[in-house]
Amino acid sequence: MKIKSLGLENIKSVEWDFEKNHLTLIDQRLIPFEVKFNQYTTVGDICEAIKTMVVRGAPAIGVTAAYATALAVKEIEDTPLCDKKEKLEEKLDLIQATRPTAVDLNNYSFRVYQAALETNFSVEESFLAARRLCNLVLEECRLICEKGAEIINDGDTILTHCNAGPLATVDYGTALGTIIHAHNQGKEIHVIADETRPRLQGAKITGWELEQEGISHQIISDSVAAFLMSKGEISKVILGADRCMKDGTISNKIGTYSVALAANYHTIPFYSAFPWSTIDKDSESIDEFKIELRDSNEVKYVKGQTEEILVANPGSEVLNPAFDITPPNLISGYITPSGVLNQEELINEINKK
Ligand code: MRU
Repeated sequence: MKIKSLGLENIKSVEWDFEKNHLTLIDQRLIPFEVKFNQYTTVGDICEAIKTMVVRGAPAIGVTAAYATALAVKEIEDTPLCDKKEKLEEKLDLIQATRPTAVDLNNYSFRVYQAALETNFSVEESFLAARRLCNLVLEECRLICEKGAEIINDGDTILTHCNAGPLATVDYGTALGTIIHAHNQGKEIHVIADETRPRLQGAKITGWELEQEGISHQIISDSVAAFLMSKGEISKVILGADRCMKDGTISNKIGTYSVALAANYHTIPFYSAFPWSTIDKDSESIDEFKIELRDSNEVKYVKGQTEEILVANPGSEVLNPAFDITPPNLISGYITPSGVLNQEELINEINKK
């Protein structure tokens, strides 16, 4: 990732330092006002960073959880061997409970847990397993960018929702990554970024990343999207996913379903981009999807650079689901590391895994 305004290149939003033994996260809560790197050395503090969204975006959370699990193996180093599995599982539960919808977190932390069991709780092997998963996400995102850019045409105006750029995926990005790649190929693209209430990931993070990349864009309030579609001003929708079920049903940032319905009504192609860590192979129906409910203050207050401002009636109750669910009949294609797939091709790929 390039942070051109600071002259920084090859920056990752999540990075374990193998010499200093700490995790560095870019504090995404402060973007676009400040680029701050936070260091973490305990599982408890990393869990707090995931919950409070210092780190966000399904793949970035997944990699963070992988390193947290490796750190958990280190934290139980002095526990007697007979108790180690139980102690590690306690920490794994804490890590997996931080954010319930983004399945990458469960998939990647579980794979490091398995690596620990297979290597007799080797700290070194657990960290190496986490690093392999980090490299895997990076490689898969790179492929998503390349393959997704193929469906982007010169002159496209693309609507995106929330943020699926380099910060959300350690580097490269998924949905936004395809746009960045197409832009770097010389295609003229204009991006419409939904502001994405209540946390404003679109207005704050997507807007900032697009500016860093020099990509033409406009931020809209979420309710403008359907109007622009009705006027023929959107040529395609590309966004990410936090969970994709075996049949191609996706869960993504709240508002995605409304965008999908509007795009379908106006026959605008709608794509979801994600790496294989976002596949949920276990859920049999959407009733098993855990939709994260977040704090009411996220809706009642708007967070600016220095202060939070109350923007709702203080005495009203709030409902704040962080994600919604979009069925496959509203999805034109899935942008994956194996290419842009239709529902049947996606199901075949999932079954091979
Ligand atoms: O709550 P967030 O900001 O973690 O939600 C992120 C999203 O919904 C993204 O669209 C998704 O994680 C894909 S990130 C590549």
